[in-house]
This record gives sequence, structure tokens and C-alpha cells, in this order.
Amino acid sequence: MTVIHAAITGWGKCLPPAVLSNHDLSGLLDTSDDWIVSRTGIRERRISHVGLEELAYVAAARALAAAAISGSSIELVVFGTCSHEDQVPNMASGIQVRIGAPAAAAFDINTACTSFLYGLSAATALIRTQVVRNALVIGAELISPFMDWSDRDVAVLFGDGAAAVVLEASEREEGVLAEKLGCYGDAREILRVHGMGGRYANRGVLYGITRWQFEGQEIFKRAVQGMSSACEDTLARLSFRPQDVDLVVPHQANLRIIEAVAKRAHVPMERVYVNIQRYGNMSAATVPVALCEALEERRVRPGALLLMPGFGGGLSYCAHLVRWGSRTTPLKSSTAELPPNERPALEIVRECLERKTRPSAAPSTTPFA
Ligand code: ACO
Repeated sequence: MTVIHAAITGWGKCLPPAVLSNHDLSGLLDTSDDWIVSRTGIRERRISHVGLEELAYVAAARALAAAAISGSSIELVVFGTCSHEDQVPNMASGIQVRIGAPAAAAFDINTACTSFLYGLSAATALIRTQVVRNALVIGAELISPFMDWSDRDVAVLFGDGAAAVVLEASEREEGVLAEKLGCYGDAREILRVHGMGGRYANRGVLYGITRWQFEGQEIFKRAVQGMSSACEDTLARLSFRPQDVDLVVPHQANLRIIEAVAKRAHVPMERVYVNIQRYGNMSAATVPVALCEALEERRVRPGALLLMPGFGGGLSYCAHLVRWGSRTTPLKSSTAELPPNERPALEIVRECLERKTRPSAAPSTTPFA
């Protein structure tokens, strides 16, 4: 019997243009560029002037063009995020409409920062079992409206962004070869964003006026443990060795976490892709944005074996082993662009901060206000 695989045939990213540097943040909070760079590796991050759907749509349009597949041919849209615009309707159905895919199934996945990778598993499984023949998988996040910009413990860590991939059924052994998915549910309370969900509606907490319960050091330890063990498990499933891996494309939450995982996985940092310095932690968007940039920088060669470990709230963790195909350049490019932005990132952030200190302030122009 022919085995069906789910090859990655298209990829595209969308980063909002407004850059918030560590120096900008040090004018807002009791922090410094030195502290942020030495503890996290982050130098700047992006702050969006548009909503989540817009970011995701542009990334999706670019991924479709890269695969030279029309939106109307897409049979499944999977949207990985934890910063939904609404719980109902879901984000995926909005993208289904924007790309013009009336026959597609559409669902969201929320496992926080691992949402894209979990989505990749779900879509791959549905292609392998021939429920659908292709899928658009998105990892997109708009953290800035949900950030507590008065809390230096977390405000320096995150950014906004989006990316997407197209999967297509193939008889070639490509796409996800093996994965390990897991969750340290016992540690779920060490990362909780109060005010980011429906349960706060009747508790006098305004939706979007958030407080982050965040035990950084404990998250750090669990992240290293979860990602390292998932890498080991995934490689062992197909009897691969660390030296068989051409490039690790990890979740980008902290450079020190990435270095610790690489060390435990026995992969030298030269074979690990890092872009956290430019974007911070974009949650579900980090791995697909890193994948797009690794391709743009010619770090992914035809037939490469990629290892993609991730962790996120929950505390979910995973690692995916992906065989790349023969093509490492897009077939076409898309004309989709974000609307222009005139506002500096710091101005958008100050407006979010103002809303937190004066929740009844006049409606703002930032997304989600
Ligand atoms: N600027 C300056 N000083 C700060 C800042 C800041 N932004 N934040 C904390 N500090 C101070 C602390 O108050 C503390 O001061 P003290 O020694 O006087 O008490 C000192 O710096 C050290 O703080 P630590 O918490 O020990 O710093 P650490 O080296 O552990 O780094 C960090 C903190 C960066 C948060 C780290 O623990 C980490 O990255 N953890 C994982 C976080 C993460 O990955 N989050 C993403 C998970 S979410 C997801 O992916 C879904």
C-alpha cells in the first residue's frame, strides 16, 4: 500500500514593521539593554498596528504563492494561536474566507507557544489518513495587546508576528517523519495570563487587562527538560542520531534555553537556527518564522533533516523531525502586504499601558482595544 506523506511545499511570514528596541523599553520600565541581551538574547521585537487576522492573512497569502497553490484549492485551515480575536467564530474560518477556500475545514489550536507545531501534527495526520489532500497551517500571535507593559519580568520577552506553511499529500517521504507531543499539566499554574480568557468576564477583570503569573526560572527548567527529552524521543523513534540532523529550528523564547537544549541534544550551535535577537518570543509564530528565515538565508538544503523542538503554556512541549523536499525557494511571490504604519512601536505600547491604568479611557486605535 502506498504511504501518504504531507510535504511542506509553501512557506510565508509576516512581521509587523514597528520595532520596539530594548532601549525603547528601558525608557518605559526599570530594565536595560544589557540585562535583556545577557539574560535572553533579545535585542528588539515587533509590535503590530493591525489585528491578528490581518497578520495571519498576509503570511498565508505568501505561503500559498510559494507553493503556487490557489486559496480555493485548500481543503483545511489550521490556525495555531493563543491570542484569538474571539473564541467564536474561530480564527481559521476568517482565514478560510480571506483566501477564498469555501470547501475547506477550519479549526484553531491553542497550546500556547507550541500551537503551530501541534497544528502541524494535526494537519499531517489528516493528510496521511486521506481526510484532506492539503492544508494551510498558521502560527500567528498578537501578544502586545495582552501584555502587562508595567511588568518588566514579562514585557521584555515577547513580540508579535505570523507565518504559515502549505502541506500537500505526497508519495515522497517528506514533511513530518516523527514527532513527540507532551504536556506537564502539573506545572500549568507557573504560566497563567489572568484576563486573557472568558473565565474573567464575570469576575470584574476586563478582558485584555492582563496580569501575568509567570515563574520564569521554573518555566526555564521545564522548557529545557521537555524540549530535550522530546528531541531524544523523536530521533530514537526512527533511529536517527544527533549528527544526522542538518538544522535545529527551535522555539525562540530565550537564547539560553536554546543553547541548553542544543547541548543536551548533542547538536552544535552552528547547526541551530536563531533569530530571537530580532523578534523575541512570538509564541506560536516563532518556529514558522524561523523556518522561513532559515530558508531565505539558505540554511535549509534540499533533502535536509530538520528538528523542531518547542514548549509553551500548559506546559506543552514537543519536537518534530521534518524531512525537507528538493525545493528551497518559493515558486511565486504574493502581492499581499500589511496596510502602511506611521506609528512608532513605543506609541502603540504606551496606549496599551494607558488602557491598563485607565481601563475606562477613550477607545483606542490599537488592534483589540
Ligand atoms: N530587567 C532588569 N532586571 C530584571 C528584569 C528586567 N526585565 N526582570 C527581572 N529582573 C531582575 C529580577 O528582579 C532579579 O533581581 P534580584 O536578583 O534583585 O532579585 C534579577 O533580575 C534576576 O532575575 P531572575 O528571574 O533570576 O532572572 P533569570 O536569569 O532567571 O532570567 C528570565 C529571567 C529571562 C524570565 C528567565 O527565567 C527565562 O527566560 N525563563 C523562561 C521564560 C520563558 O521562556 N518564557 C516563555 C514561556 S512562554 C511560552 O513560551 C508560552
